[in-house]
Amino acid sequence: MSDTILETTGLTREFRGFVAVNGVDLKVRTGTIHALIGPNGAGKTTCFNMLTKFLQPTRGGIHLKGRDITGLKPAAVARLGLVRSFQISAVFAHLTALQNVRLALQRRRGGSFDFWRSERVLDRYNGRALDLLDDVGLRAFAEVPAGQLAYGRKRALEIATTLALDPEVMLLDEPTAGMTHADVDRTVALIRRIRRGRTILMVEHNLSVVEGLCDTITVLTRGRVLAEGDYAAVSRNPDVVAAYLGSADGG
Ligand SMILES: Nc1ncnc2c1ncn2[C@@H]1O[C@H](COP(=O)(O)OP(=O)(O)OP(=O)(O)O)[C@@H](O)[C@H]1O
Ligand SMILES: [Mg+2]
Repeated sequence: MSDTILETTGLTREFRGFVAVNGVDLKVRTGTIHALIGPNGAGKTTCFNMLTKFLQPTRGGIHLKGRDITGLKPAAVARLGLVRSFQISAVFAHLTALQNVRLALQRRRGGSFDFWRSERVLDRYNGRALDLLDDVGLRAFAEVPAGQLAYGRKRALEIATTLALDPEVMLLDEPTAGMTHADVDRTVALIRRIRRGRTILMVEHNLSVVEGLCDTITVLTRGRVLAEGDYAAVSRNPDVVAAYLGSADGG
């Protein structure tokens, strides 16, 4: 049980009678990279939204480090160490990469009103912010406005602003979506670097990324868990081949 950092039991979400997530039992082990895969509409993002409390479950429970977080607000869950990577829209285009990370570090300290204070206050965060940019391979882009970064680098910046919150459990929703081959490789290397001391749960459509990176894979279809295991086991599972790969071929 102490091995499990994040657990759902019977997690269910209905939208006006339509059951998008249906009795999902998920156990994410501490220190692992765990993938949630499945065809379009399987309920992956809805699961993520419930884990980060952007959506309230219709039924079922969520435990983080043994603590019931089912009724908590998103900010409270983030403070407990479960953080979802922000969407690009949360990166301020007119601010430099460095300024974006500094702002995230400052938010973590809860000093949102410091925003209006002098540059000197923000300079306190420079060292840590540069370290984080280094971690995601953006050190050379520190002074570039975020809006001018290439797509893959914007996503890396988004990960840096998430890392600024020092999450114990990090949720990544399709971290390589829309990326070029080179950016996918860079992102895989980045996830390998940042996994140290963390647990990562990710939704990912690119199966070679999943194969190379993830310890455990849970396959969802129509809101239910179809299979779970390592990549070798899951990819051999005939139900998975039929339901997941079959539909992937079709679309
Ligand atoms: N707010 C909502 N209201 C009504 N139906 C919803 C809502 N959000 C999701 N759904 C439905 O729930 C199902 C699961 O959606 P979800 O976005 O979780 O799938 P997904 O696995 O993330 O798919 P994708 O791979 O396309 O991102 C879909 O049928 C979707 O249309
Ligand atoms: Mg989705």
